[in-house]
Amino acid sequence: MKVLVIGGGGREHAIVWKLTQSKHVDKIYCAPGNAGIAEMAECIDIGINDFDELINLVRYEWIDMTIVGPEEPLSRGIADAFEKEGRRILAPSQAAAQLESSKVFSKEFMRKHRIPTAAYKVFTSYLHAEDYVRMKEAPIVIKADGLAAGKGVIVAATTDEAIDALKRIMKDREFGDAGNRVIVEDCLQGEEASFMAFTDGRTIVPMVSSQDHKRVFDDDKGPNTGGMGAYSPAPVITGELEALVMEKIMQPTIDGLREEGIKYKGVLYAGLMIKDGNPSVLEFNCRLGDPETQPVLSRLDSDLMDIALAISDERLSELKVEWKKDSAVCVVLASGGYPGKYEKGKVISGLDKAAESDDVYVFHAGTAFNDGDIVTNGGRVLGVTATGANIKAAQELAYKAVGQIQFEGMHYRKDIADRALKGDNK
Ligand code: AMP
Ligand code: GLY
Repeated sequence: MKVLVIGGGGREHAIVWKLTQSKHVDKIYCAPGNAGIAEMAECIDIGINDFDELINLVRYEWIDMTIVGPEEPLSRGIADAFEKEGRRILAPSQAAAQLESSKVFSKEFMRKHRIPTAAYKVFTSYLHAEDYVRMKEAPIVIKADGLAAGKGVIVAATTDEAIDALKRIMKDREFGDAGNRVIVEDCLQGEEASFMAFTDGRTIVPMVSSQDHKRVFDDDKGPNTGGMGAYSPAPVITGELEALVMEKIMQPTIDGLREEGIKYKGVLYAGLMIKDGNPSVLEFNCRLGDPETQPVLSRLDSDLMDIALAISDERLSELKVEWKKDSAVCVVLASGGYPGKYEKGKVISGLDKAAESDDVYVFHAGTAFNDGDIVTNGGRVLGVTATGANIKAAQELAYKAVGQIQFEGMHYRKDIADRALKGDNK
């Protein structure tokens, strides 16, 4: 079979890498891909939102399955466009993807179906929002309704900070139409974890648990990023908690959507806050997380194409998805200045040496070729991922590999997975 992967980050490199191990897959294409993906797939320079060109590619190359990484094409209806042409695609429909693309849709859906989440109000008027923020006490959370490249959520420690966020979103229109509606929501405390599952719209198969590190600096300091590293499993998700998340969150979400005439096929990701053993939803994503996918797929024993086909045919209940007992840790290496402004084109050295161990895989994110060199081409550049018998072994191996890699301005967190080791769940 031929498969097309859409996207060009670390998550997509991990998907492509996993597909190279599939017994079904003869050829992999990736649009647009990156320098690491190019070693194992044919990278095609088509934009992730150029559905006509992507469908043409699928048609001319006789591609059997398409797997979508990022959220933007989902919110623009890539699944609907492919299905209209009778093409298989692992992606939820545009209606289903509203769980991620509209925070107002997502919160109202959760309220209606009694899925635990923070109390909130929706505002279209700046004055009303400001009044409400002044009435409530900080800390408080301000969220732009639409997609804002991960920047549309402000956890405000003070009322002034919250009002400043409202001004930026509603008056200065920093996120454009994504800020037409704003959610003001109670700030939850606890431990965060990522819960991802495969679903065919009826059966839900949870993946192994994972945890992301969103802040740029050690000890969760500094601004939010796309994710500076992740590990799997996350000890905070015990067997008991997994059962609770399935019962109170995942199942009612998939069933609730189906009741509303929306069949959800693909990956559903719940960003959770866990307090005293009780999970609440911070957000839904309608795709695999980046960088959570790198450690999670490193632990997948089953054939990813078997899973994609079972979802597509709606027979996921017949499949047994197997995971390795190993733990995995992914450390993201970022460009100098990220998540703010950064320069591109810095030569990366030490990649081969870093990947010498069989248990280390260096997933590329923002990388490109330049005159025979591999150079930086984005904010998050590499995701150095290692597996081991436990988190400690995986962490040590990942950081040993990180020590081999260099590029000008490179920075990374030194404490990825420390939280899992300390059992520090607060
Ligand atoms: P989101 O994009 O909705 O996941 O929000 C990004 C980050 O903001 C989350 O990973 C949390 O760290 C934080 N966050 C979102 N909502 C809340 C909330 N209600 N209480 C506390 N933190 C939150
Ligand atoms: N790592 C968080 C996300 O993919 O949204």
